[in-house]
Amino acid sequence: MRAPMLLRTACLFLACVLAAGALGGCGEAGPAKGENETQPKQDTPAPKVDAEADSPALETAAQCGVCHTEIYAEWKASYHGRAMEDPLFRELSAEVNKEECIRCHAPVNLRDSGFETPIARSEMREDAISCLSCHDSNGRMAGPSEGLKGRCRPVYDPQQQDVVKMCFVCHNQHDTGNEWLRGPYSPEAPEPRLREVQTCLDCHMPAVERPLVPNGKVRKGRRHTWFGGHSITQLRKAAELDVVTEKLPEGGHRFRVFVTNKGAGHAIPTDARHRSFDTYVLIKDAQGKILLDPTDAQQQSRAHLAKFRKFYRGSGKKDTQIPPLARVDTLGEGAGFVDVPEASSGTGEAWLVYRLTPRDVLNKRSLEEGPPNDIKRLYRARVVIRKEFTYGP
Ligand code: HEC
Ligand code: HEC
Ligand code: HEC
Ligand code: HEC
Ligand code: HEC
Repeated sequence: MRAPMLLRTACLFLACVLAAGALGGCGEAGPAKGENETQPKQDTPAPKVDAEADSPALETAAQCGVCHTEIYAEWKASYHGRAMEDPLFRELSAEVNKEECIRCHAPVNLRDSGFETPIARSEMREDAISCLSCHDSNGRMAGPSEGLKGRCRPVYDPQQQDVVKMCFVCHNQHDTGNEWLRGPYSPEAPEPRLREVQTCLDCHMPAVERPLVPNGKVRKGRRHTWFGGHSITQLRKAAELDVVTEKLPEGGHRFRVFVTNKGAGHAIPTDARHRSFDTYVLIKDAQGKILLDPTDAQQQSRAHLAKFRKFYRGSGKKDTQIPPLARVDTLGEGAGFVDVPEASSGTGEAWLVYRLTPRDVLNKRSLEEGPPNDIKRLYRARVVIRKEFTYGP
């Protein structure tokens, strides 16, 4: 542990030296060092000017990262930081050549459009949804605290924590914002409340206490991670499964799987239409022989119980997303159960499967437990939950 720690301290120190030279110093309020000494002493007090106003404007996320090292690292790894390099986005936007796609994936700052329709940036598109998209306010950086000082000229703006402005501007085109507003986590939910108020920030930008810059004061803030459908850990927070088995009069059993949206503040899935949740069952007899196997190409469609998805426009299909706190077996796509006549007693597993795209294939490798957010597994149907059960006498 020691060596990496030292290395880290050295890097932070270096970042500060760089910042002090190029940008005016980390954690430093007021004018850059040295400025005062070179200025001639004046008898009349100098007019009150904004000490940082003359510094060149900050333009790139990497510049913010010199001082806000941890937030920068989180953002860079997030799908906001990667919204222009996301492989699926590149494919569907003809290698980012569809201009109409850029406005939400690499926008100018949101305040310029009154938090309404984001406008595409002409420069630094590789910064995707940049720090400046969310924070720039006429060259100052809007934040949730009052009275802070720094090279970026922080300015207090309560709109920074107003998710209807900050998140809805891009995340309501498919209704995610409204799903939340209508649901049990919204400040507008009817009394008696079923859940405490939780905003997009509470679930997608977890609270943390830490310095905002190296050697800065510890402050209350939020991680810039935005875990969503790409993160198996986040997906697991959304749902739970339960199984109801029923003996059939003519022999065998009926297996019904229920999904409860226990942890998402909106429907699951939400937002992008190519995503889906599906339920499957695997059934074994008392000797352990597999009677129904979702990873077997021949048996897969029979083992598939239900699909939950917001379908493409024009597909003619009704949306089957699961609202917050609802417990459902099906919403119309699939029966929600399967009858297995040869199953008199034994064990089984109910699966909740997540797909980022409709072509993600479910196979044996879908069951592999890789590192939690392994990018190599993204475009394979991923088994999010496996719930074991027994049936019969
Ligand atoms: C109004 C804003 C907006 C516009 C315009 C927009 N997107 Fe998006 N896009 C989003 C949001 C918000 C998400 C995140 C939704 C989610 O994660 O489910 C997203 C996610 C995506 C994803 C999913 C990434 C993944 O890995 O699942 C793809 C692909 C995508 N967009 C492609 C496009 C293409 C292609 C265009 C242009 C035809 C486009 N988008 C235009 C807002 C927009
Ligand atoms: C040279 C160092 C430096 C650079 C570069 C820098 N900042 Fe800052 N920033 C600070 C300091 C110092 C503070 C005040 C921290 C404190 O008092 O805890 C601050 C505060 C902030 C705040 C206010 C936090 C709050 O709680 O209200 C925001 C937002 C912010 N910075 C965003 C940015 C963004 C975005 C960029 C890049 C465009 C950036 N900063 C570049 C040093 C810097
Ligand atoms: C400028 C448009 C824009 C704004 C503003 C915005 N997002 Fe996003 N968000 C996107 C896009 C585009 C993606 C998809 C990126 C991709 O995967 O290509 C995304 C992805 C996400 C994801 C999913 C990541 C995943 O793993 O799939 C979450 C969660 C998220 N945003 C939450 C938020 C929250 C919370 C806010 C408000 C603080 C917010 N977003 C503001 C455009 C935006
Ligand atoms: C999608 C919008 C979005 C992007 C992109 C974004 N931020 Fe933020 N940022 C927020 C929100 C929302 C808050 C308010 C969090 C809160 O309630 O404390 C925030 C808070 C902050 C704060 C105040 C301290 C804290 O943790 O709350 C700093 C500093 C900051 N951001 C810097 C950055 C930097 C640097 C980047 C780029 C590396 C960046 N942000 C990218 C939305 C964004
Ligand atoms: C109570 C916690 C909670 C709240 C509040 C919440 N989310 Fe989520 N969100 C989740 C969970 C859990 C997931 C993972 C399930 C999923 O991906 O469908 C998720 C997934 C997402 C995704 C990925 C889309 C997908 O279906 O894979 C996006 C985008 C998103 N949330 C945006 C938002 C926005 C925007 C808000 C505020 C309007 C918000 N969330 C409020 C918990 C929450």
